[in-house]
Amino acid sequence: MNETASPPENIVLIGFMGCGKSTVGRELHQRLGYPLVDMDQLIEERAGKPITAIFADEGEAAFREMEADVLRELARSKETRRIISTGGGVVGTAENRGLLKNLGYVVWLDAPLPVIMERTGKSRGRPLLHTGNPAAKIQALLEIREPLYQQTAHLKLDTAGLDSGELATGILECARYFFTHRPS
Ligand code: S3P
Repeated sequence: MNETASPPENIVLIGFMGCGKSTVGRELHQRLGYPLVDMDQLIEERAGKPITAIFADEGEAAFREMEADVLRELARSKETRRIISTGGGVVGTAENRGLLKNLGYVVWLDAPLPVIMERTGKSRGRPLLHTGNPAAKIQALLEIREPLYQQTAHLKLDTAGLDSGELATGILECARYFFTHRPS
């Protein structure tokens, strides 16, 4: 018998640091019961150290290789209903962008610069922002990445002023529509 695998129904969260991917991911996981895959967490588990240490010991290029490897594995996996929370820089290569889009419904969580500044200022866990002028760094990265998020996402949501419950409700309704109507 010729069995056709059903197309993946993962919900993939992309977007800049501090835009709420992990928080909204947890909310979606609770609502749907789908397993939650946090790519940064997977990378840390595999490397046996936090992301700041990976950057410090091995450099950003090595981190990006690990990130791409984790994404390739997710793309090969037979598990097709997961919530996948990504790191902010995952859209940096064409290969990654293609894999993300094929994984399922891709949601770009966005926020204005002051909100990103406020949220990222609270933690030291983001090595790219360990600089004298984090605002300038964020702005420079956003300029490069916004078009990449745009071309990868099926949906863009501005997270400012909404809590994770409201965001999850919006995402679930749109994802349901997407999975029901996409061409087979
Ligand atoms: C990065 C974002 C981080 C993490 C790493 C690099 C980036 O993830 O992957 O520090 O390049 O924007 P979050 O977006 O979850 O903070």
